[in-house]
Amino acid sequence: MKDSKLIAAARRARRNAQARYSNFKVGAALETADGTIITGCNVENATYGLTVCAERVAMFKALSEGHKKFRRVAVVADTEAPTPPCGACRQILWEFGGDLEVILANLRRETGRHQLKDLLPLPFDARLL
Ligand code: THU
Repeated sequence: MKDSKLIAAARRARRNAQARYSNFKVGAALETADGTIITGCNVENATYGLTVCAERVAMFKALSEGHKKFRRVAVVADTEAPTPPCGACRQILWEFGGDLEVILANLRRETGRHQLKDLLPLPFDARLL
């Protein structure tokens, strides 16, 4: 699958973001091992603290639909600087997606590309339990 297709899916998902408190809309698109795209957007709410980021929404949707293996995730925000996944999302992406390629983009261009293992060095995961 072309990068542009995954990024376009994240841009489309971003339009559904529920971000009335921060006004910071984020979209994410996960590519599964069989090439399916599962998207997510951030969902904020009046308690603030129950906010869920776009990346976790995408991963939880994918898991709930039975997907188990993942290749890449694209994350889109309307910023010039890259918007990398927060710490909580890195943990969840790592646990369920492994060493994903993380593609960062804004509404016009790609802003960065990383391997998840470089974003989450020395992870705590099931191997340590
Ligand atoms: N957010 C995401 O959805 N993903 C990120 O990678 C960074 C932050 C959301 C959470 C919150 O709704 C808003 O962006 C501002 O932090």
